[in-house]
Amino acid sequence: MDHFQYRDGELFAEDVPLSSIAQEVGTPTYVYSSATLRRHYRVFDEAFTGRDHLICYAMKANSNQAVLRLLADLGAGMDIVSGGELARARAAGVPGEKIVFSGVGKTDEEIRAALDHGIFCFNVESLPELRRISEVAAGRGQKAPVSLRINPDVDAQTHEKISTGKAVDKFGIPWMEARAAYGLARDLPGVMVKGVTMHIGSQITTLAPFERAFTLLAELVELLRADGHEISHVDLGGGLGVPYHGDTDVPPHPRDYAEMVNRTLGHLGVTYVFEPGRMIAGNAGVLLGRVIFVKETETKTFVISDIGMNDLMRPTLYEAFHHIRPLKEPAPGAPMQVVDVVGPVCETGDYIARDRKLPVMERGDLFAVMTAGAYGAVMSNTYNTRPLTPEVLVDGDKFAVIRPRMEVEDIIALDALPPWSG
Ligand code: LLP
Repeated sequence: MDHFQYRDGELFAEDVPLSSIAQEVGTPTYVYSSATLRRHYRVFDEAFTGRDHLICYAMKANSNQAVLRLLADLGAGMDIVSGGELARARAAGVPGEKIVFSGVGKTDEEIRAALDHGIFCFNVESLPELRRISEVAAGRGQKAPVSLRINPDVDAQTHEKISTGKAVDKFGIPWMEARAAYGLARDLPGVMVKGVTMHIGSQITTLAPFERAFTLLAELVELLRADGHEISHVDLGGGLGVPYHGDTDVPPHPRDYAEMVNRTLGHLGVTYVFEPGRMIAGNAGVLLGRVIFVKETETKTFVISDIGMNDLMRPTLYEAFHHIRPLKEPAPGAPMQVVDVVGPVCETGDYIARDRKLPVMERGDLFAVMTAGAYGAVMSNTYNTRPLTPEVLVDGDKFAVIRPRMEVEDIIALDALPPWSG
């Protein structure tokens, strides 16, 4: 469910016509709906009413300060993966005790910063990391709260680049080695065991892989408790998908997900921690673009737009599908055409859609790339010296620029000439 709908022939974000944003801010531009962000957070939160739980939004999905603040105001914590994300979460007003720190390569500096901010838990991904966190914390006379991320060797049936729970993936400690790892944690002076973590992948559209993983997780918690460990929470990661197509990839409703979580883990009496990213932000954002040229060749029609692969990497990186909707609603029965929608970047992989049947588009036409709120702006870059895409937040009939358009001068200013150049 999102708040991007046609009204009187025009595509709106809540009560704002997207064409007015395109006019004022230009294109390409990301536009987010506050109502959709709030709704997604609340639906997930309400699915766990009556259970101790903490939702740590995976801010890697969309880490604009305005988005973080909106979610923090609803009570969200954050799942972070870098010192940079820690600083941004804190700047948005998220308290340290609602932050979990994931990722395979935490540096000493990041570990120290997380300790300084009193985070809720480190999700530890390997034995070398466990030892290092202990050394750093013990060196300051502290005990770091830890939860070991366990790799259950479960196939999440998602794109290979976003699967994280198979034995061949770099993440977590193998399930078979988990008890020994917890034994080590108990003996280390600078860590204190709090929980067990699993995150098996992203854009998962069925419950089965989660259920397999969480069943193994429940078994492990019981074994660990029998070994004398106090396990007070389980961190179930993120991973619930969103409907990019809308028909073939409809994900489970959070209610059904919650029912499965309670079925597999409810008897343990633990606090649940969740790290949803995409399901909160994905359908809450669109990317606006404009057609620059339409180029016909013998084999194809290319709609060349001002959205480059630097603005939205997902299609070329994961063969991802994003719907494209013209801002002016096509009349019923309007002529359609099979086209490639490509960008201006000098790479063949610079496309948003290939062989897509769309209403005929012409130079100057505005359109929206749907479901671009997660892993869109955060993965954009300045390849081909294209300034970072601006971002806009809509709330009811208001909108605000929450990241201004970068200027080429800003890019030039990031570089420095060596002192020996003339
Ligand atoms: N927790 C951990 C430890 C993660 O690694 C991730 C995502 C999440 C939570 C959030 O997962 P979500 O609920 O968003 O599925 N750039 C890719 C997605 C990468 C996901 C990385 N980890 C894409 O555009 O599809």
